[in-house]
Amino acid sequence: TTRIKTNSQHHLTIGGVDALQLADTYQTPLVVYDVDAIREQIHQFQQAFAEQHVNYVISYASKALAITAIYQVLAQEQVHVDVVSGGELYTAMQAHFPMKWVSFHGNNKSMAELEMALQQHVGVIIVDNFYELQLLQKLASKYPQPTAVMLRINPGITAHTHEYDQTGQEDSKFGFDWSSGQATRAAEAVLQTQSLKLVGIHAHIGSQILETQGFKLLAQKLGAVMKTWEQELHYRADILNFGGGFGIQYTKSDQVIAPRQFVQTLVQTLRDTLNTSDLPMPTIWIEPGRALVGPAGYNLYTIGARKDIPGYLPYVSVDGGMGDNLRPALYQAQYEAVLARAPQAPIQEKVRLSGRYCESGDILISQLDLPATKPGDVLAMLDTGAYGYSMASNYNRVPRPAVVFAEQGRAQEVVRRESFADLTHLDQSYNLN
Ligand code: LLP
Repeated sequence: TTRIKTNSQHHLTIGGVDALQLADTYQTPLVVYDVDAIREQIHQFQQAFAEQHVNYVISYASKALAITAIYQVLAQEQVHVDVVSGGELYTAMQAHFPMKWVSFHGNNKSMAELEMALQQHVGVIIVDNFYELQLLQKLASKYPQPTAVMLRINPGITAHTHEYDQTGQEDSKFGFDWSSGQATRAAEAVLQTQSLKLVGIHAHIGSQILETQGFKLLAQKLGAVMKTWEQELHYRADILNFGGGFGIQYTKSDQVIAPRQFVQTLVQTLRDTLNTSDLPMPTIWIEPGRALVGPAGYNLYTIGARKDIPGYLPYVSVDGGMGDNLRPALYQAQYEAVLARAPQAPIQEKVRLSGRYCESGDILISQLDLPATKPGDVLAMLDTGAYGYSMASNYNRVPRPAVVFAEQGRAQEVVRRESFADLTHLDQSYNLN
């Protein structure tokens, strides 16, 4: 566990702050981000592109964590964002995030959402299907400037990842199908619409991908699409957007792939593909979500009940679970966790780390190696920063945790813990008379 940082008391630290102190100050369950680590990960991607000498845009996929504070940090780091709902767009607006750096995704954007995006002058709308194209044609004609769009195409590539995380195979709800000619028809339609400007081509093959082969195929495919449209439609794309999906290391058995490797694969494959036809390199976009915030996040829990069953692993329960991190229950996602007061102490037993929710499937880690623990001990689950808090719920009417950003030894609460009053805030009394 080289990712673990400790202080002179051998306690776990996050962004230079003692995890025990964080748990004490803000209570548990608590979501903590090491903001230094987020920035570092961004810099890795930026540097990887700089080494390749290409024009690029890094556009963070908001869905991984969409809170005001993250948009503030991203703006500071010159990172663009994609949003997939009016709610994410609204949050970016609240953070005063530059709207020209926003792209709008989604397979069923509503008229109201599209209208909101146009009114806010978001940088680009990534059109997913013919229905949306019709809505947009209607709306965009009301604006003096043409609306920038990219077309999301379905490249017909099956990523090696969990089935729920695959999006690029032909049988998918996302994007214009390439093989049947849908995508080319969509491009023609956009090119014939005065109020729309086709700036590029987008595809996304899936999430938590831990190999480069899928990205190689994708770069070849989008390069080929660019060539085809140049020849058949006399249209040259300025931007190729390769989506996100860059996997991170959750457990020791996940093989790490550095940002540099992903970027190199994309750029070099595209270069080779375009070289044969004298096409200039377009601007390259990527949309990492998990890779930017995942490794920086920690969920802190307090240990409570324990159940020993002869012949089975003991159940060690914590004060959070599927309400603050649904991924283990939903995707059988694997994580590691450490004891905050002694993350490097020798292992003494194997336990099942269970959540507090009233559901058998609420197991956070099915086999976890731990030193001896006692009730009241703080556990830190690692790499929870992506799709953890953003998928949190109030199941069992458990308030959602607070979120803290820690950086350079200083911590700040950026989302307050929900109160019981928050839970009934939207309820209205039913009139029984
Ligand atoms: N771009 C598009 C168009 C996407 O649909 C996604 C993710 C991304 C970028 C960012 O992918 P990332 O770099 O984070 O892998 N809730 C699931 C992940 C769903 C991802 C959906 N789309 C999970 O927790 O594993």
